[in-house]
Parts: sequence; C-alpha cells; structure tokens
Amino acid sequence: IRASMIADKDFVLAEIDKRIYGSFIEHLGRAVYGGIYEPGHPLADENGFRLDVLNAVRDLNVPIIRYPGGNFVSGYNWEDGVGPVESRKRKLELAWWTTETNEIGTNEFAEWAKMAGSDVMMAVNLGTRGIDAARNLVEYCNHPSGSYWSDLRISHGYREPHRFKTWCLGNEMDGPWQIGAKTATEYGRLANETAKVMKWVDPTLELVACGSSGSDMPTFAEWEATVLDLCYENVDYLSLHMYYNNHEDNTPNFLARSLNLDHFIGSVAAICDYIQAKKKSRKKIHLSLDEWNVWKTQGTSLSETRWQIAPPECEDVYNMEDALVIGCCLITMLKHADRVRMACLAQLVNVIAPITTEKGGGMWLHTTYYPYLHASMYGRGTVLHPMIKSPKYDSKDFTDVPYLESVCVYKEETGEITVFAVNRHLSEAMELTLDIRSFGAVELVEHIVMEHDDLKAFNSKEEPNRITPHTGGQTFKEEAAFKSILPKASWNVIRLK
Ligand code: AHR
Repeated sequence: IRASMIADKDFVLAEIDKRIYGSFIEHLGRAVYGGIYEPGHPLADENGFRLDVLNAVRDLNVPIIRYPGGNFVSGYNWEDGVGPVESRKRKLELAWWTTETNEIGTNEFAEWAKMAGSDVMMAVNLGTRGIDAARNLVEYCNHPSGSYWSDLRISHGYREPHRFKTWCLGNEMDGPWQIGAKTATEYGRLANETAKVMKWVDPTLELVACGSSGSDMPTFAEWEATVLDLCYENVDYLSLHMYYNNHEDNTPNFLARSLNLDHFIGSVAAICDYIQAKKKSRKKIHLSLDEWNVWKTQGTSLSETRWQIAPPECEDVYNMEDALVIGCCLITMLKHADRVRMACLAQLVNVIAPITTEKGGGMWLHTTYYPYLHASMYGRGTVLHPMIKSPKYDSKDFTDVPYLESVCVYKEETGEITVFAVNRHLSEAMELTLDIRSFGAVELVEHIVMEHDDLKAFNSKEEPNRITPHTGGQTFKEEAAFKSILPKASWNVIRLK
C-alpha cells in the first residue's frame, strides 16, 4: 500500500508543550515501594532510591510527574507523609485497600523527582478533605518561610520551597469508586473555592480541574460543562483520562482506538470553548490528559491483597500491538498540541508501566517504553499541519481508519525534522512518500523501526530485549522527496536534517 505526507515548515500547528511527555507515580501497588524506592537493594542510593530505575526514567526525559495519586489522593492526609520517618503513622489506605507506611511522602518524592530531572504535578485531596488541607499544603510546599507550614517544612530539612507549579484539584471525582465522589455541582463549587484560595497562597500556580474519568462515563460532557461553569475563572486546565485494552482480541479495532482519543480530545475542547463563549471570557482552558495508557488487568481482586503493604497491582505486560497503540496515541496528542498542554502516561514504574522491577533484582523495559522514549526525545519543537493521504479500513467500532497514523515535528534551533509514523496494516508494508520540499536541502539522519512478526510478543525478565527498536529502517532520497518503507504493523521514527 502507498501513502503520502506533505509537511511545510510554514504550516505550524502549535509549539509543543514538553509536558505532554509527562508520567505518573501513585502510591499504588509497587510504584513507590519496590519501584522507585527499595532500601537495601544493591543499586539503591543512601535514600533508598533505586538508581537503575532512576536512570531508565532519566533516559525518558520525563518533564513532569503526577503525584501522589490517582485514587490514592482522595483519602490521603499529606501531613502523614512529612516529618521524621520513624514517627510516621501507618494507615489503612482505602482506595486500594492496602496499608500505607508513609515512608515516602511529599519531600522524598520531590527529592526523587529532582534527581530524575522532572517537575512534580501535585494533587490535593478533594475526596475526604478540602480547602483547608489544600491551602496548608501549598503553604508547606511553596511558601519561602515565616509562616507555620513553611517553617515546618524548613524544620523537616527543606529550606528551599519546592515551588510546585502545577496542581490537580482532586482526582476522578465523578467516579463512584472514588473516596468522596461528588456530583458535578458539588465538585465544581469545591474546586472553585479551593482553587481560589490556593492561588491566594501562591498566585503562580496552574490548576487542573477534574474532567470525567473517561468518555464512557454516563455523566461525560455534562460533567465537564457543569464543572467548568462553576470554576472557569480560577482554573487553567481540564483533565482527561483514557485507558484502552484489547480484551476482545480484535487487533484492527484496537489499533484504531486512537481515533477515539482524537474524538475525545476534540469533544472536551469544544465543551471548554462552549463555556468560554457562554461566559464571554477571554480565557481559554487547555487540556491535561493526565492519565492515558493501555490497561489490561482491570478486575484484579483487591480483597485478595487486603491491607498488605505495596502488593503487586496492575502489573501489565505490554506487547507489540500495545506499543503501536501507544505510538498512535502519542501522534494523536501531537496533532492536538494546540490544545493538549500536559499528558501523563499512567503510570511510570510497575503499575501499568513501561518499567518493571524485580524485588532485590533487575528491571526491564516493556515495548511501550520505546515509542514514549522516541516521542519524548525527538517530539520537541513545533508540530506541523500534516497533509496526509492514506488508504483506509473499517473496523468493528470505527470507519475510515487510515492505515497511516503520522505527524511531523520540526525543531527550528537544530533544523531537525522528525516524522512519527505507524503503519496499521497487519500484513502489508507501506510505501510512504514524504514531501518536505519547503525545508530545502535535508538528509536522512536515521530511520528507527520497531516491529515484530508476533504482535502478542512481549519483553520479560527472561527475554528483556525480545522487542527493541532498530535503526535499519529503509528511507531513500528521491529528488525533492523521501521514500520510506514502513513494515507491516510497525512504529517508525524518520529523522531528517
Ligand atoms: O492509574 C490508575 C488509576 O486509574 C488511578 O488511580 C485512577 O485515577 C484511575 O482510575
């Protein structure tokens, strides 16, 4: 099959906000305990942070990491996680039915994030708590000194404020599973008042209001409109959460799921614009896709691990087709870079994550690590409006699915042009013509490919490198254009300069 892309350097869609390559660490399963933190591990530093994990995260160049939840945050008393570790209380954790030791809290996570080179996207508890705990936490984290909470932070050994800029106003407050779930009106009012006061403590904050937990929620769309109507002027972003799976084992349909993401982003943007028009406001709300991934292990019985400390939970194993979906979703986000300013691959270590650790042992990278790595490494700069022609197919839930999912990114400072492309065709290679004549003289740097004959193949402890990218992709210069061969069912990164 044949497809083509024309990219012109003057047709700029948007500057990419690097925070779309964010991720998420929740106090859930072995993400924190046994993931980023394992005191006594041969590769742990003096604070108990695993350096092998830290290096894998550093390589990803993750600009921002959401913390501490997730569902966890809706029952969390942040004061339990600060101060001398030996006097921290153990508590029953009701989101995931475990025992939380509170060994790691805000300050330790801030330290770890700094070592990882990431900013922290903090979340406040609007499930069991509200304005008071939220404003105290902002004062504790961000106020320099001279007040009770800021001086307490200093007494805990952190003279410099953390200066966390981005904060989530609760988590998935529409979900019945959420501790302290709310109606849209209850939440919208609380979010507004909390946001207002948090910004009084620190006017530099950027705040994210909770959208729906997914577009399949019965209150989706109405929730967004009601919440925004109540808190529009005090918030800056609206969140979107989306997870996909292939439980029905229908690969063409699964690979088309990013069309659902595209529609979801478009719908939420439209709702934001509707409220903006209604309020006659000059302010635009941007989107924070602060949970997205493939998630297959839903339905794990929490009662089996009830009140254990950091039991394994949601430890998904990602195969080749999952990596293709992740690639398609990253391309979709880039195509919406004018609106999506933040996104968090949920999550980063052990829990629905690209990195898995073994207790006391090694770690390995899942297939999904690689498209995320490539996008974060090369997807910086501006997104160009791609003109794409591709043959299409119909699947169970989608019509007109292009076999080619692709986008072009241009980094002016270095002159680098990167084309990300997925060939969704399961049995045929694609010949892609790249017309980038507006760039003048350009050469191929490399064509990275990730492919595997078995779409269900995955990496594991025994075979950690079964699926890794290679640089043997075929791209040739042909007069003013380039021709690339995208193998069947493959992820491609074509780098030109
Ligand atoms: O990322 C795992 C969980 O998924 C989060 O805690 C919650 O917000 C979502 O339902």
